[in-house]
Amino acid sequence: MSKMWAGRFREPLDSVFEQWQRSFPFDWRLLPQEIAASSAHARMIAAAGILTKSELVTMLDGLAAVIPQATAGSAIVASSPEAEDIHHFVELELTKAIGSLALKLHTGRSRNEQIATDMRLFVRDAIDRTVEGLHDWCGALVELATAAGDAVMPSYTHLQRAEPVLVAHWLLAYVSMIERDSSRLADCRKRMNLCPLGSGAVAGATLALDRSIAAQALGFDGPTANSMDATSDRDFAIEFTQALATLGIHISRFAEELTLHSTAEFGFLDLPEAFSTGSSAMPQKKNPDLTELIRGKSGRLLGAATTLATLIKGLPLAYNKDLQEGQEPVFDAADTIDGILSVLPAFTRALRFRFDRMLVASQSGYLNAMAAATYLTHKGVPFRKAHEKVGNAVRLGLETRRELNELTLDELRGFGEEFAEDFFSAVSLEATLDCHDVIGGTARHRVSAALEDARRRIASGSEPLAEKSAKLV
Ligand code: ARG
Repeated sequence: MSKMWAGRFREPLDSVFEQWQRSFPFDWRLLPQEIAASSAHARMIAAAGILTKSELVTMLDGLAAVIPQATAGSAIVASSPEAEDIHHFVELELTKAIGSLALKLHTGRSRNEQIATDMRLFVRDAIDRTVEGLHDWCGALVELATAAGDAVMPSYTHLQRAEPVLVAHWLLAYVSMIERDSSRLADCRKRMNLCPLGSGAVAGATLALDRSIAAQALGFDGPTANSMDATSDRDFAIEFTQALATLGIHISRFAEELTLHSTAEFGFLDLPEAFSTGSSAMPQKKNPDLTELIRGKSGRLLGAATTLATLIKGLPLAYNKDLQEGQEPVFDAADTIDGILSVLPAFTRALRFRFDRMLVASQSGYLNAMAAATYLTHKGVPFRKAHEKVGNAVRLGLETRRELNELTLDELRGFGEEFAEDFFSAVSLEATLDCHDVIGGTARHRVSAALEDARRRIASGSEPLAEKSAKLV
């Protein structure tokens, strides 16, 4: 069988154009989705009387047989140089398998609704895999936070040492970001889980199909509401890649921090050898390739979101061939996040912090200055004044190379008579942590409560999103 549309044409296609416009070289990977969607469509047209019961069985068996067991994409593509796209490929294969009955499959449908359906199914699976991977990574972060106990590290603002925080508090910051990323993906999934089948080319199917049959067969919540929207919008793909782009930004910040922390200058962690590489030139090197690659790859996620938004913004309704260009960025984004999440949890579990170095860094550089000012406010000093008095004390410390707790009470009193003997315990490391006793603060009991909450959320959030989706072949 030749083209799917040859009837009205007299001239053959320009051979270079013909190859150039094909999507099969990349949309072959929608094969499972295409088979599932075609099977759902077959059930729908059988219910409408287009196929007999036994024809439906033959067609479903034929479709199931099209899945070449574990055949690589390149082999599938090479096996069918005439296939224009995945839809054409399945029709060609089905015809080989069951003969002319295959030609009935396209009754009442269009490739425009097929590709919209296949892409939704693909994105839905990708979301489920990503959410599962993030769940695993959050588990790893929480394990690390638990193991860190009461270990402290400096926090930074402007990349200057600010105040000490618990290492667990820092790790839980990423858990918060990742939980929002997961909820963005789950949210996107909810909105996109409607079935375009039955939308036809643009105006709706030309057969009175019961669209709920296909929707149900594919695990969608129901049919889409408008055929023009369903065949031509890809906002689900935009949302998916945008959610991944935001996730990528978070993961990239984590990667950047670890890259920085592993330098000799920080010395906060020893890179796990199993996830680092050496230098072919400099024998002493252990390079943070994993975190660098993650930082780099997150750029691809942003790129995918930008490509899709740019692609779609100027398109008149409804389907336009430009939309074919929207597939590869979605595949690339899904592959990129799959790759990142295949290494990130194990890498995270393998991290070993140098708590001794973190402790030393937390105890120098006047990280208790805010706690010192707070101490004065408890003595009735207005904060502005307290800030100034502690600032003066810091100045003296800088000049004489001492921390605040190394100044004498007499010296301190020179800056304010409110300083008393209890000052020294008020600026200890423990007190400096514990004075942040608010929800979301780094006081030790607040962090252990936050950690407990995170553990509970992770344990209860493990039910798979995919429960409702059909098992695709
Ligand atoms: N390969 C096409 C795509 O990805 C399928 C839809 C083709 N529709 C059409 N009217 N030519 O968009």
